[in-house]
Formats: sequence, C-alpha cells, structure tokens
Amino acid sequence: MTLAGRRLLIIVGGGIAAYKVLELVRRLRDQGAAVRTVLTAAGAQFVTPLSLQALSENKVYTDLFSLTDESEMGHIRLSREADLVVVAPATADLMARMATGQANDLASTVLLATDKPVLIAPSMNVMMWQHPATQANLATLRQRGVAVVGPAAGDLACGEVGSGRLAEVPEILTAIVSTLTAHHGPKPLAGRHALVTSGPTWEAIDPVRVIANRSSGKQGHAIAAALAAAGARVTLVTGPVAEPDPPGCTVLRIESARDMLAACEAALPADIAICAAAVADWRVANASDQKLKKGSDGAPVLSFVANPDILATLARHAQRPRLVVGFAAETERVVEHAIEKRQRKGCDWILANDVSPGTGVFGGDRTTVHLVTADGVEPWPSALKVEVARRLVDAIAGVFR
Ligand code: CTP
Repeated sequence: MTLAGRRLLIIVGGGIAAYKVLELVRRLRDQGAAVRTVLTAAGAQFVTPLSLQALSENKVYTDLFSLTDESEMGHIRLSREADLVVVAPATADLMARMATGQANDLASTVLLATDKPVLIAPSMNVMMWQHPATQANLATLRQRGVAVVGPAAGDLACGEVGSGRLAEVPEILTAIVSTLTAHHGPKPLAGRHALVTSGPTWEAIDPVRVIANRSSGKQGHAIAAALAAAGARVTLVTGPVAEPDPPGCTVLRIESARDMLAACEAALPADIAICAAAVADWRVANASDQKLKKGSDGAPVLSFVANPDILATLARHAQRPRLVVGFAAETERVVEHAIEKRQRKGCDWILANDVSPGTGVFGGDRTTVHLVTADGVEPWPSALKVEVARRLVDAIAGVFR
C-alpha cells in the first residue's frame, strides 16, 4: 500500500520528541498523504502551530471550543475524516486519558469520537513507561485494537537510559502503512460467514443459582473481531462475559450449553466455525423450578447429566462448516491431548493452550498455543490473545484463498 491519497490525522502530544513529528509530517507529505494535525496544549510547548501548519500545508487544530473550528470543522468530523489517527508522541498522560475515555481537550475528544484505526507512538521517561499504571493503560489500549509502535530503548532526553524513546520516523512510517493495510487492505474473508462461540456457559441449579466457570471470553471475542476485520460476516454466540461486543459482529447472548448449541445450529450455514467457549461439560439434571430453600433436609444433592458437545456436533453436522476449529485447555501433555481431541471431536484444527495454574491464561491477556492440524503441530510464540486471534485469522484466510 502506498501513502498517496491517504488521509492522516496526527495528534501531537507534549514530549521532547515532538520535534521528530515535524520530520514525520514532512515525510508523509512527500509520499502524497494528506495530513491534518491536532496539537495539544503540552505539545505546543515543544513545537509551534506554525511549523506544523507549514509542513502539513494544512490548518493546525488546537482548541476544542474554538467557535470557528466548530462551525468550519467540528471535532467529530475531524475524527472521522481520516483513514488513520496517529498519536505521536503518545505521552503517559495522553495514554492514560485514552485508556479512561476522557474528553477534556480536543485531542482526547477526537480520540474518543473516532471510528477510525488508531496508532500510538509512545515516548516518555523509562520509569513512567515501566510504571504498572502505564503498562495497564497500554494493555487496555492494545486490547481495544489500538496499534502501537515503539518505544525504543536508549538514552532518554531526561538523562536516564532505557525504554521510552519515540520510535524513529522510518519505523513510524512502516507502522502507519501496516496499520492502514490491516484496516483498509484486502478483505480475504469477504463473503464468508464465520460462527464463533465464546465465554463460559451457565447451567442453572435453580432460578437464582448457576454453575459457571472462569472463562473471560477474551480469546473468542478477539477472534470474532479479527474475523470481522478480515471481512467475514461474524455470528458470535457468547455466554455471560464482561467483554464489550466486538465491532461489526452479530452477537447472540445465551446462558446454557443447550442454548448455545441451538443458537449455533440456527446460525448455519457457515463457512467457518470456531469454538472458543468454555462449555460446561455437565448440567444439573434435577434443576429446580423454584429457588431451593434452606430446610431441615440439609444440603441439596445435585445430579448431573452430560451437555451436548457443540464442537463435535458442528464437526459432524449435515451442514458442516468447511473449516471447524476447536480449543483445548490442558494442564499436562498439552500437544498429545490436543492431537487426540482433534480426532475425537472431528474438527480440522485445535488450538491447544496450557492453562496450568501460574500461566495466567484463564482471564489473562496472554496465551501460548500450539496449532494442531492434520499436517502436524505448529508451536506459536507466547502472545497477546488479540495477536493469537490475528494469526489464526491469517491462517484461516490461507485456507479460503
Ligand atoms: N466444547 C464444546 N461443547 C462442549 C464442550 C467443549 O463445543 N460441550 C468445545 C470447546 O469450545 C473447545 C473444545 O470443545 O473448543 C474443548 O473441548 P473439551 O473436551 O471441553 O476439552 P477441554 O476443555 O480441553 O477439557 P477436557 O480435557 O476435560 O476434555
């Protein structure tokens, strides 16, 4: 992808590295991109609106409440009329305001109002970068799909040494091109229907009590989002989770395994099925219609009956999707169990992950998986669940090419 004709909105934060952004703007213009800039009050301590205006050959936006700006070009339009929003330097303060959804100046308001991809290039003191607050904000932003370039390690302007240098201009340019390609590039799964299960199931004991599990839905939701970004029509069938709905997906909320199966079967035909849900293997056979009361008979005795296996059902269905993918959560002999599980369930691929205590996979943001297929076993490096999702979708795109 070339940058010619691409519309970029650059938000310049307040850091000593802001001067490098002048060079970035110049290089973007050289390559034919249209550049608009928003300069924060702190950013204006380091570069002048005049230099940004001269280099971008465009008006510089600074003030949320400027009446002229609001009548000429409101912050909503400013945030929408771009193919990509780039925050450079992304200071600790800007990242914190993005992560908490604040809208107290033009930059943060634009970032909250935008429906476009966002790339941040962090730059700050090493201790600020390593602070758990900044790292938590970074994780939140990544989780929401914000792309990140840098920071690099080296001598910092404050005299300390470590991670926190703004990425170099060529690196930022490369990241701009790859983020644009990811969002505006080819849609390899256009025209395909993907069915994804995610989250736990809840199995009723009585009208107020359930048996549940700790699945967060992070992996399944990330896969649904990545499939939608690749152009697929996505039906996400999810148990109760706190994760926000992934953009561009049809989300069907269910509670029990039987409801999940019914929703999945009703969503067929599909080209792809990915079962990432942690489905309860059993449900309570003698679930009560009325709330169980503490009585003289002591603790209730629950009996269980097996739930339908959604993955195995889809894999052997008359309307079987062309590609059926399951997960295996293992605590020992991970690959060996996954190979056996792939055959037993009749699916094409299994993503096997080690969920032993201490790995933090359940509920966490990172995971380490092996892709098990008929052709063999491929170990993937430890990565964020959103990165695993993207890699899986790349592999799926390979099948449908
Ligand atoms: N699965 C399903 N329906 C079930 C149980 C599991 O669709 N009733 C799917 C899960 O979504 C996942 C895979 O099957 O894709 C996991 O299989 P499962 O046999 O539950 O394996 P583990 O969770 O790894 O547990 P176990 O080792 O106890 O078999």
